[in-house]
Amino acid sequence: SAVCAKTTVLTADRMIDVDNGKLIKNAVVVIEDNDIVAAGARRTVDIPANAEVHELGDYTLLPGLMDMHVHLTSDATKHGYKGLADSLPRVTLTGVKYAKATLMAGFTTVRNVGAPGFADVALRDAINDGDIEGPRMFVSGPSLGVTGGHCDNNLLPYEFHTVSEGVADGPWAVREIVRRNIKYGATVIKFCGTGGVLSKGTKVGVQQYTFEEMQALVDEAHMRGLTVATHAHGTDGIKTAIKAGVDSVEHVSLLDDEGIALALEHGTYFSMDIYVTEYILGEGAKAGILEESLAKERIVGKRQRENFEKAVKAGVNMVFGSDAGVYPHGDNGKQFARMVRFGMTPMQAIQAATIHPATLLKQQDTLGSLSAGKKADIVGVKGNPLDDISLLENVGLVVKDGHIVKPVAM
Ligand code: ARG
Repeated sequence: SAVCAKTTVLTADRMIDVDNGKLIKNAVVVIEDNDIVAAGARRTVDIPANAEVHELGDYTLLPGLMDMHVHLTSDATKHGYKGLADSLPRVTLTGVKYAKATLMAGFTTVRNVGAPGFADVALRDAINDGDIEGPRMFVSGPSLGVTGGHCDNNLLPYEFHTVSEGVADGPWAVREIVRRNIKYGATVIKFCGTGGVLSKGTKVGVQQYTFEEMQALVDEAHMRGLTVATHAHGTDGIKTAIKAGVDSVEHVSLLDDEGIALALEHGTYFSMDIYVTEYILGEGAKAGILEESLAKERIVGKRQRENFEKAVKAGVNMVFGSDAGVYPHGDNGKQFARMVRFGMTPMQAIQAATIHPATLLKQQDTLGSLSAGKKADIVGVKGNPLDDISLLENVGLVVKDGHIVKPVAM
C-alpha cells in the first residue's frame, strides 16, 4: 500500500520573506513531511485538500532561528573555578538540558563552537537519532588554541599539567588537530586567534597564532570542506585571521577601519555577541567569573557595541552569534533588541539569524528561509517582530524538520 506524505499547513497574518527582505501578509506555509513545498501570500498558494491546517491568526512566521556561537555544554552559573568540578559526562548531560531549551526558544540550528571531549558530537548524534530534543547542530569539537592561550585552560598551576584538548603549536600540529577533530565528527573548525575575556592570564588585544599557523589551519579545514570560525577580540588577530581566509570572526571587539575593509574584501562574516556583556557585568561575579575577566569585560563590551554599529553601517556580512552558555541558554533571543539598538533594522537582525547563517554554513539550499524545497524549520511569534523585535524573545511556535516541537499555547 502506498504511504501518503503527511501535509501540514500553517496560516498566519504575516510571514517574513528573508530572501527579499519583505513582510508578506496573509501567509500560508505548506509542509510535506520534512520540507516546505510552498510558502507565500494566501492567494498564491494552493492548500491541499487533505492537509492538517493550523490557523495562527495574529502571528508572524519566520524561518527557524540560527545562532552561530553557542556552547551547549556550558552552564552560565559555573564560570572560572566553579567549572572545574564537572566531569565530561556531567557537561554532556548539561548539553542535553540546554539543547532542548535552545530549541524551545526558536533556535532550530546552532553552531557549537568549542566543547570538551566531543560532547557536542554526541549531542548532535543523539538529536539526529531522535533520542533527545535539540536544534540542528554544526559542531567543532575542542577549539584549537596556542599553549596558554584563550582556548587552553590556565586556571591550575604547572604541577597539574592541564592542557586543553585543542592545544596545538605550529603549522603541522594545527593541521593534525584539524584532522583529528574531523575524524571524531567535527563539521566546523574553531580556533582562538587572540586572548579572551573569560580566560585567566590572556590579553584580549594580543594575537595568538602566527599568520603561518592560521593559514595552515584554514588551508587544512578548507581542503576537507569545513568552514573556520575564529575567536578574535584584538585588532591584529582579527585582521590576520581574515587575511588567512577564515570564514567568520567571533566577537570582533577591537575592530579598526582596516579590519572592516578586509572583511568586505574577503566576504568574511562577523559574529558579534553584543548581549552577553550585560550578563557578565550583572551576574558574572556570582557565577564565578574572575575579577580580571570582569575588568576586561568593562573595556571590551562597550567597544564591541560601537564597532558592531560601524560594521553594520559598512555592510559587512553579519550573523547572529550569542555565546549562550556564558549566559543562560534559551535567552539567546535577547540579543535581537541590542542588534537593533546598535544599528540594524529589524529585518537585518532577522536576516542575520536566518539566511546569513545558512549561507555561512553553506546550507542556503536547505535552510534559512521559508521557501519551497527547504527544510521545514519554522517559528511563529505573536504580533509583528518588525514593529517590536523583542517579540523574538518569546517564540510561540517551533517547527523543526516538519515536526511541531512546540505548539502554540492556546
Ligand atoms: N567567550 C568570550 C571571551 O571570553 C566572551 C566575551 C564576551 N564579551 C563580549 N563583550 N562579547 O572572550
